[in-house]
Amino acid sequence: MSTAKKEYKRITVKSLVDMKANGEKISMLTAYDFTMARILDNAGIDVLLVGDSASNVMAGHETTLPITLDQMIYHASSVVRGIDRCLVVVDLPFGSYQSDPKEALRSAIRIMKESGAHSIKLEGGKEIKESIKRILNAGIPVMGHLGLTPQSIYKFGTYTVRAKEEEEAEKLMEDAMMLERLGCFAVVLEKVPAKLAKKVAEAISIPVIGIGAGNGVDGQVLVTHDMLGMTHEFNPRFLRRYLDLYNEMTGAFTSYIKDVKSSDFPNESEQY
Ligand code: KIV
Repeated sequence: MSTAKKEYKRITVKSLVDMKANGEKISMLTAYDFTMARILDNAGIDVLLVGDSASNVMAGHETTLPITLDQMIYHASSVVRGIDRCLVVVDLPFGSYQSDPKEALRSAIRIMKESGAHSIKLEGGKEIKESIKRILNAGIPVMGHLGLTPQSIYKFGTYTVRAKEEEEAEKLMEDAMMLERLGCFAVVLEKVPAKLAKKVAEAISIPVIGIGAGNGVDGQVLVTHDMLGMTHEFNPRFLRRYLDLYNEMTGAFTSYIKDVKSSDFPNESEQY
């Protein structure tokens, strides 16, 4: 397997499949706004996910369920304006695709038309097969999402590791193979045993992007606010923090408040 890194001027769904074939790992992070998207794109990220985790991170909800299609489109269009190179994937939010395939297609079309994003992601396997087919038939690239699927949190009751038992692991493998057969371009595996994730990545030719799924997969995704250390109360084992922005920002904000209160800010050079 070649490890030479090919230069991609623009990342497409095909580039991701090529990366897997060439043994190049895929980097993916979330973004919900223009400024963050610009920084991430300039840093060279391969994929930006406008995740429904915006419901937690941006809006402060306890789950991903409340975010609406209109709100996802707002976040996605802000992200699209910030990027030149990476691929933008947008989550179909809870309630926008579960009732029937026509509704799923309508929601996917709205995201593509109104935000300018390049692809959509939805959670689930064989239960949503017809919806995935319909969206793919309309020419819209689809990323799957298996394992821990946060939109079903009330069905499962906890955010613990999924597919530890054989029956669930077998269903996950079947779902992953089905997603490949249908024509999805990639699949996210969230919080599943590393051994199982590796087995899935080896069994299918489309990229498997892991979050809490070990290192045997084809790429990794994290929620940007978590890896920057802005959400310091969230501490899952899989999370690597690259900064401690919560404390860094608190320091900056307290300095600003102090400077304003003491009339230190603005000084002569900071005024007209
Ligand atoms: O919404 C999100 O951020 C996600 C990632 C956790 C994969 O779906």
